[in-house]
Order: sequence, then structure tokens, then C-alpha cells
Amino acid sequence: MPRTDTGPRPAPPARDSPPHGHDRVLGRVVLGVTGCIAAYKACEVLRELQRREVDVHVVMTAAATRFVGPLTFEALSGHPVFHDQFALGTDSDIRHVSLADDAEVLLVAPATANTVGKLARGIADDALSTLYTATRAPVVVAPAMNSNMLEHPAVQENLEILRSRGVRVVEPGSGHLACGWLGRGRLAETDAIVDATLAALVRRRELTGETVLVTAGPTVEDIDPVRFVSNRSSGKMGYRIAEAARDRGARVVLVSGPTSLRPPGGVELVSVRSAEEMARAVEAHFEAATVVVAAAAVADYRPAAPSTDKLKKGEGPLALELVRTKDILRGLGERKGERLLVGFAAETGDLLARARDKLTGKNLDLIVANEVSTGFGGDTNAAVLLPREGDPVDVPLASKREVAERVCDEIVRLRAPAREPTPTGPVAS
Ligand code: PMT
Repeated sequence: MPRTDTGPRPAPPARDSPPHGHDRVLGRVVLGVTGCIAAYKACEVLRELQRREVDVHVVMTAAATRFVGPLTFEALSGHPVFHDQFALGTDSDIRHVSLADDAEVLLVAPATANTVGKLARGIADDALSTLYTATRAPVVVAPAMNSNMLEHPAVQENLEILRSRGVRVVEPGSGHLACGWLGRGRLAETDAIVDATLAALVRRRELTGETVLVTAGPTVEDIDPVRFVSNRSSGKMGYRIAEAARDRGARVVLVSGPTSLRPPGGVELVSVRSAEEMARAVEAHFEAATVVVAAAAVADYRPAAPSTDKLKKGEGPLALELVRTKDILRGLGERKGERLLVGFAAETGDLLARARDKLTGKNLDLIVANEVSTGFGGDTNAAVLLPREGDPVDVPLASKREVAERVCDEIVRLRAPAREPTPTGPVAS
């Protein structure tokens, strides 16, 4: 709550103190304010978050300080405002890193086209953009700008990049804009921004205590030292699931076939090549896992007798004998215990019927059914989530990160009974 006294302003509390005498806070949000006329509305957002017991720290861009003075945010938040990376202060820590570490959610409201562009492209040249690149916290962005700026392909592309990274974009509203226009681009309503921020705070803890084992990518089955049998999986779907589960607080082990993707930070990556290696790696981590998500496209067949020498070509055709690999997920289904097993099914026809067969045949709790044409390779996907019990969930074409979020929503729902607190405390497995 804001102070109402008129006496001398007390010294701001130390960085770790909760605001205004609260012993317990729901969480800590860093509010990034950027330079547009809607900057004043950030004061209202701040106060609404405080009413929900959220401890808010404020970071401002230089342009934002021309619309609202840092003193206003300092007085409201009860914390020093970070706006000058190079200011000498009493803290000897590096402010953008310590605040980035402490943040449980980074909310940027209002976000100008300039800041959206910087965040999307990794430009880190001021207090807010350096903090964004340094934080692992979920990020919520509420853009506000002129309609033409908002609709500009560059801005739309930058917003899409942010969404594909899991950033929650609170859509701007329509109405009278400060520039005199009537159109889309107004900062979203305070309630919508606060709700999205609180949802991100809650979501951040939804899988705390869970160990999520994810498989991703293709497997590669060698024919000889230079040739192999594989498939078109890029690994993107599995990597996005690993990131989404990590961002909800889970410990994540990612068993990945060969991909060209950057390993997600904060995830234990186990790199494998063949189906046999994947089976061994999954086995090694199955005991500790409470949730398994099998997004990998595992080879069903491998060459019966891989050659250590390069095969010589002859004149006629060459017959390659293939033998079945082990079905990793089916094996896990036979001894799943209390674990939650999530499979994937990629098909070119009869998608739902085949997915249902796999759901029951492999003793899964949930299967993600996607078409081969949309699932393999690209950055987007569309899917139907089929739980063993309950209604199917349709996920229309969206970024793979968005699809991963919907899969995680289902995991959270299905794990809820196992996570109910008991008299001796919460059960994680
Ligand atoms: O990597 P991307 O380019 O992003 O593409 C993602 C994807 C299309 C590969 C992914 O979304 C997907 O659908 N993965 C499953 C592909 C598949 O064809 O699965 P399947 O029908 O062969 O197998 C069904 C399930 O059993 C899968 O969860 C699979 O991981 C698992 N399985 C299959 C064979 C095997 N030997 N062991 C297994 O564990």
C-alpha cells in the first residue's frame, strides 16, 4: 500500500526486504517501465500488484524517466529504482544481475516498440534490456504504441519472437491513443496485466518438486561409418517442452538425439545417438522421474549388422536388413508406478484413432497427437491432447513453445492429485 504520512521519507528498505512491512509476499516482480505516455499507468499496475501482496522493484529506461520521475516509483515501491547502469551506489553487486536473479517475474509495462525490438534481438544497452538478458524468470510484456507502429511487420515479428520464447504478451487494447489516433495500441487494462503477471508467478511454481524426463529429436542408426538411417525430427518440440517444464519449477532431464539446437539453460542434457543409447539414458533417469514426456521420434528399425568398414558399392541394388528397436515408452508403461507418462503420436492419417491406440497400448496418461506435416521440423505445431481420462484439448497452430505450455497445463492438471498436500507435507512423486 502507498504511504499516506507526510513526514520525512524513510530510507528505502534493503533489497531483500518485503514492501511496507509485509513479512510474507506472494512473490517478487521486477516492473520494467519504458518511455511512452502510458508510463504513468505503470504506477497503477504497481499498486495493484502490491494489493495482491507482490513485492515490486522498478527498472526504468532513460526515456521512461522523462515521463514519470524515478522518485514516484521509489516512493510507491519502497525500493530504489534502477535506471542508470553506471550510477555509483551503496550496493557493490552488479545491479542488473542481482535484480535479474531475484526476479520471479519480469513485467515490462508499458513496452515501447523500441524495447520490444531490443528484447527480441538481444540488444542489451540499458538497465532494462541488460536485466532481460540476464534473467531466467518468466517475462510478461504489455506493449503500448501507435496503431501503425504496432502493426508494422518489424514490431509484429519481434512480438512473435518473444512469444516463441515463452514471453507472455498482454495484447494492447483499442481506443483513443495519446497521438490522437483511434485504434489499437493502448496499454491493456491494469487488471489484464496484473492477472497475467500473477498467473506467471503461480505457474512458476506449478511443477516444483517434479523431475520431468523429456526425450527429443531423432535417433540415428548407423549403417557404416559414413551412412545412417534417421528421420526429420529437429528436436524443437521436445526442447520447448523441457524449457516450459523448467520455467514451471521442475528439475528437467532432457535426453536428446542429435540436433542443431542450443541446449536450454538450467536443464540436464544427455546427448545420445541411437535408439539403443536413448533407451539406456532414459533407463538411467527413469527411477528419479515423476513425469516422462516422450517427444522423440525414435527409430523403429535399425540396420541388423552395422559395418565398421565403409560399404563398397556394386552394380546391382543393395538390400539392407533392418531389425526392430526396443519400444522405450512401452517398456516404461509396463512399470510406470505413480509416474505420469506422456507420449507423442505423429501420423499422416487416422491421427486420433492411432493416437488412442498408442495411449492405451503403451499405458500412457496423455498422448499428444500431431500431424507429420505440422509436427516435424518447423517452429510451429498444432495438436490434440488426448488424456486417458477427460476431454481432448485442441491446440490450434501455434509456436512449439505455446504448444509446450498447453502440454504442461495438462501435466499440471493430471499431477494435481499426486501433489495434494498430505499431513506430512506435499508429495512430489
Ligand atoms: O522434433 P520436431 O521437429 O520438433 O518434431 C516433433 C515431433 C513431430 C517428432 C514430435 O512432435 C512427435 O510427434 N514425436 C513422436 C513421433 C512418432 O512418430 O512417434 P511414434 O508414433 O513412433 O511413437 C509413439 C511414442 O512412442 C512417442 O512418444 C515415441 O517417443 C515413443 N517411442 C516410439 C518408438 C520407440 N522405439 N520408442 C519410443 O519410446
